[in-house]
Amino acid sequence: MRQKTILVIGGTGMLGKPVAQQLKADGFSVRILARSVEKARSLLGDGYEYVQGDYEDAESLKSAMQGCDGVHINIKGGPSEADYDRADHLGVKRIAEAAKTVGVGRVTLISAYAVSLEKADTPESRSKVKGEAALKSNGVPYTIFRASWFMETLPQFVQGKNISLIGKQIHRLHWIAAEDYARMVSKSYQTDETLNKEFYIFGPEAHTMGEAMEIYAKYKGVKVSSISTKMLSVLGLLTFNIELKSLAILMGYYERHGEDGSPEEANRLLGAPKVTLKEWCKKN
Ligand SMILES: NC(=O)c1ccc[n+]([C@@H]2O[C@H](COP(=O)([O-])OP(=O)(O)OC[C@H]3O[C@@H](n4cnc5c(N)ncnc54)[C@H](OP(=O)(O)O)[C@@H]3O)[C@@H](O)[C@H]2O)c1
Repeated sequence: MRQKTILVIGGTGMLGKPVAQQLKADGFSVRILARSVEKARSLLGDGYEYVQGDYEDAESLKSAMQGCDGVHINIKGGPSEADYDRADHLGVKRIAEAAKTVGVGRVTLISAYAVSLEKADTPESRSKVKGEAALKSNGVPYTIFRASWFMETLPQFVQGKNISLIGKQIHRLHWIAAEDYARMVSKSYQTDETLNKEFYIFGPEAHTMGEAMEIYAKYKGVKVSSISTKMLSVLGLLTFNIELKSLAILMGYYERHGEDGSPEEANRLLGAPKVTLKEWCKKN
């Protein structure tokens, strides 16, 4: 059988790299679209086809997609409202349009668990809702992965000897390891049952963010400290730090919105995630 070729856009990213690696391990031919081929090669190594390109440029997208059976989108916007729209909405739209023109068999997209029109009350969530809608209305076969919080994000909250719990995070979340998610994305390319669907990707256990940070803190020898979203926002304003302001908005969003949807269909078709937070902490 002919080896299928999948183009990964954002293959150097935190959540794109494990997908590229898993696709390769599962026997796909993996092409990486990268702004810097040198950087991508140094991160991913041999065994990939690298093409220089930019998702802002429709021509480079179409040329990179020639001969591809699928395109996986792993891109990220922010912290400004305009930049979320540029990436999560217009970037996804442009990639979907190029895929339709070239006749790619399917487009897969990472999204987030709380992405829905009713909950879209922040720049990032509004852009993601628009991006999903653009992909779904375009006509190219798609699969969307609405993933929960990734365990890989926990180190991003560490500063020195502390891990910061931002806001009142009361919702219990099914923390997911990137390796489980990557396996599920790759599996989705192995059956047509996954076409034109959105999957909720939830890890095996639920913990509030505070509980997850306590587990992480125990393994990594750090202490959990707390800050309100309001205080973080004020800090962002005082220091002219748009990243802090944007983080306060993001964490406010997760204070308000918990998980919805069910992982049942994803688990049945793609195999349920197995890696627990404790196992992940031990390994990483
Ligand atoms: N954090 C979570 O728990 C969570 C949960 C669900 C969903 N998500 C979503 O997952 C997505 C991916 O996140 P991530 O952490 O993997 O992001 P990331 O590490 O920032 O990766 C973004 C990727 O996009 C590439 N890129 C940026 N601009 C590009 C351009 N103009 N042309 C081509 N490639 C470009 C980057 O490549 P270079 O910079 O190397 O060029 C990089 O590979 C985000 O949308 C995020 O919201 C996150």
